[in-house]
Amino acid sequence: MIIKSLPWTVLCLPLALWSSVVLASPLARPTPKRPSGHGNPRPLVVWHGMGDTYNSPGMLEFISLIENIHKGIFVHSVYLDENPKDDQRACFWGDVNVQVANVSQQLRDIPELAGGFDAIGFSQAGQFLRAYVERYNSPPVNNLITFGSQHMGVSDLPLCRPWDIPCQLARRATKGGVYNEWAQTNLVQAQYFRDPNQLPAYFEHNHFLVSINNENSSTINTTYASNFASLNKLVLVMFSLDETVVPKESSWFGSYAPPHPNGTILDPKVIIPMRMQEVYKEDRIGLRTLDERGDVLLETCEGTHMQLKSGCWKPLVKRYAGGLVGGDSEGALRDGEQQVLKFQ
Ligand SMILES: *[C@@H]1O[C@H](CO)[C@@H](O)[C@H](O)[C@H]1NC(C)=O
Ligand SMILES: *[C@@H]1O[C@H](CO)[C@@H](O)[C@H](O)[C@H]1NC(C)=O
Ligand SMILES: *[C@@H]1O[C@H](CO)[C@@H](O)[C@H](O)[C@H]1NC(C)=O
Ligand SMILES: *[C@@H]1O[C@H](CO)[C@@H](O)[C@H](O)[C@H]1NC(C)=O
Repeated sequence: MIIKSLPWTVLCLPLALWSSVVLASPLARPTPKRPSGHGNPRPLVVWHGMGDTYNSPGMLEFISLIENIHKGIFVHSVYLDENPKDDQRACFWGDVNVQVANVSQQLRDIPELAGGFDAIGFSQAGQFLRAYVERYNSPPVNNLITFGSQHMGVSDLPLCRPWDIPCQLARRATKGGVYNEWAQTNLVQAQYFRDPNQLPAYFEHNHFLVSINNENSSTINTTYASNFASLNKLVLVMFSLDETVVPKESSWFGSYAPPHPNGTILDPKVIIPMRMQEVYKEDRIGLRTLDERGDVLLETCEGTHMQLKSGCWKPLVKRYAGGLVGGDSEGALRDGEQQVLKFQ
């Protein structure tokens, strides 16, 4: 049987399984148990994290656990290439704007998703799914759950496992010239690198995060805000001991403060929380609208980056995924369950 208590680690290595679990043969695309529609659980889209692949044992295990929670649910695992090696490579190399466009086509082409779906993004895929919502959202996302994502970017690059060569190479190349044109169209992590001490360079040269955060006032796209605010719930999960995402509060739309206007770099560093961000205060992406409606949930999971303990992800997946189409929008309301989402 499946061991549920051990942590899962995803960064720069596949969502690792911890036992010799015998898995079903790798599925390129999970097949629906029954057509989704009125009275059935809402379909779910999951997008794996950096260094992982859409059909790794860890992802397949995660999906099968969800299928046990929400019987009959259709789950699609996002890929940029059906070949797992190339899918993994696309975590590091490529143009995120192109990748998100590619995924939007993929999601549009899946008949089971036509009525809308809930979505779960692991780590960097959380902000990629947010880009999907803001720019495409057709079919629309109902609830968006992001685990350990970098919504306000990272001010340092994620560390790699010593043996993870693709990750190491990408990290080295990204550090070399994060805001140059080549990096901004070829190195995935450069496209959400946001150094608070170099904000002018970021505003001017970043190709992805500045756009989806509407941080450049001359290029604001109001469609992003209306699409994003159309979510039912936005569930932002931060890992309490995350040292991979710098700062970890980025998972909650926090960031380090820029230097004092006189140029002094703040020491110790100060976090600007979500509700103090310009992007929020000016409601540039609809985040404030969502929050004032009570639809932004700031959740904490105890542990390091993507340490997905079942006590952390299960209540969230129970509650915010698999709601009945045409019925309650939240899974947990279906069986009257009162999940208290506290992980203290
Ligand atoms: C986009 O999708 C197509 C079809 O699946 C694939 O062949 C292609 O490599 C993808 N492009 C990118 C940039 O990931
Ligand atoms: C704003 O974003 C929408 C959705 O991606 C796009 O269709 C539109 O062209 C964008 N508008 C501008 C001015 O870039
Ligand atoms: C905003 O974007 C425009 C067009 O890409 C660019 O020319 C300008 O420098 C950016 N603004 C800032 C403050 O960087
Ligand atoms: C900048 O302002 C801060 C806060 O008022 C002050 O502590 C610091 O000494 C100033 N630095 C310079 C170089 O003026």
